[in-house]
Amino acid sequence: MRPINSYVYLFKYAHSLEAFLLKAREEDQKIGFVPTMGALHAGHLSLITEAQKHYDLVVCSIFVNPAQFNDPADLAKYPRTLERDLELLASIHTQAVYFPEVDDVYPQNTTTEKFQFGQLEEILEGAHRPGHFAGVGMVVARLLRIVQPHGLLLGEKDYQQCLIIASLVHQMGLTEQIQLHFCPTAREVSGLAMSSRNERLSEKGKELAAQIYLIIQACRDKYPHFTPVELSDWAMHSLEALPDTRPEYVAFADAGNLLPINGWNESKEVRVLVAVWVEGIRLIDNARLF
Ligand code: PAF
Repeated sequence: MRPINSYVYLFKYAHSLEAFLLKAREEDQKIGFVPTMGALHAGHLSLITEAQKHYDLVVCSIFVNPAQFNDPADLAKYPRTLERDLELLASIHTQAVYFPEVDDVYPQNTTTEKFQFGQLEEILEGAHRPGHFAGVGMVVARLLRIVQPHGLLLGEKDYQQCLIIASLVHQMGLTEQIQLHFCPTAREVSGLAMSSRNERLSEKGKELAAQIYLIIQACRDKYPHFTPVELSDWAMHSLEALPDTRPEYVAFADAGNLLPINGWNESKEVRVLVAVWVEGIRLIDNARLF
């Protein structure tokens, strides 16, 4: 444990973080937790700030989890900016940061808990990134065992991940102990959803990527006049027409289970979810349609 200023305690090892948090719990402090993979941006910081409104002590983890990358090249290219991340976290007075190595999260000779999420892990992101959500479940379970938070804050940009983690918390029997906060997607002025991956886009790429949200917004205006299939085709063609852009899916799905809908009256709450490659970078976004 090492304080870098009067506010931030840094932990590389779970056992020292656990000891620190045990003391906090004995003092009846309520703990909020924001898990991240680093390369922090304003979206992550808004989660920390939100956590600070609800909890006495906020823990942020920074760990690029190899288990959730199905593509080794994607893992290798994932931005790692630890020094800058720690400065950003200090600037907003995050109380504790856990930034372990792989061995600390997945110690050798110990079995890692595994969870199953049924169809939810096989559709949309799960279909395009096999094994991704199994890896997310594995790491978040381990982090929750270490931090034992009262509250967990996640961004809605990864909407399917939010539902996966809600299922995880349920399967771990922690629904009563952990309050889940799904926070609105932070966006650039252009509408582009903030993401660590945006750092790899050129300025032109960022302009192209901003079209994703414009198309999502157009879907909101257009949906009563089209079927879900027609609207998805329109959105796919609009994205395909952009240079250096290749959409993977535009899906309209029930907000509760993300199963696709064929008619607007099939669900009370519908979300539009999009995955698009821009300049070779895979971006996702989503929004509530109604
Ligand atoms: O959303 C992320 O950054 C990651 O999937 C998470 C939740 C930190 C697990 O590695």
